[in-house]
Amino acid sequence: MKIDILTLFPDMCYAVLNESIIGRAKKKGAIDFECHNIRDYSLDRLRRVDDAPYGGGRGMILQAQPIFDCFEAVCNKNGVRPHLIYMTPQGKVLTQKRALELSKMSHIAILCGHYEGVDERVIEEIVDEEISIGDYVLTGGELPALVLADAVARLVPGVLSDSECFEQESHFEELLEHPQYTRPAVWRGREVPEVLLSGHHAKIEEWRRQQALERTKIRRPDLYERHVKGEKE
Ligand code: ADE
Repeated sequence: MKIDILTLFPDMCYAVLNESIIGRAKKKGAIDFECHNIRDYSLDRLRRVDDAPYGGGRGMILQAQPIFDCFEAVCNKNGVRPHLIYMTPQGKVLTQKRALELSKMSHIAILCGHYEGVDERVIEEIVDEEISIGDYVLTGGELPALVLADAVARLVPGVLSDSECFEQESHFEELLEHPQYTRPAVWRGREVPEVLLSGHHAKIEEWRRQQALERTKIRRPDLYERHVKGEKE
């Protein structure tokens, strides 16, 4: 899978994507990332990409032309038009289900907004989908784009090793995870639950399922309700 990111801060995006599990997956060729600087497509002598909003008001608006030209260059370079997602608090809130659907696409592109927004016309012209990472506002779309890229990339086959495999997570069908413990068996007087030391796999599974249910009921009653009704999100 390929993920192209259109941003004013490509170095910030590469810094994150080249690290850790995602960086390793890129090195072994399981996934490909490319970041594109929207400013490179400015036609302005001073490489400006923003201007004041028509009608007045605070802040600066990213102009349509550099974004459009940047996306066109991405399409031409790849010989395909990737599904383009614009990160905005006005989008549909990201879910695991949508991340899984996106992970099955061979190529996506993510547009990071900045300043007070993006000229609406370029959104109408090229954006396929608007996604929010939650009901709060960040200063730019880079962190949301990286959240989306990470959530999608880890679901692409070959990105996670067997020991990291996410399939175990879906085991308990959209419940929160049970608590986890590692050595030592006693730490500051706190003991690891005895059942986990028993070696009895069926009992361990049952304990984990119960813990997942209890946690979800207390912490996320909305998810719990959906689970007991047998609904899938
Ligand atoms: N840009 C700023 N805030 C955002 C959010 N919550 N989700 C997606 N993009 C954003």
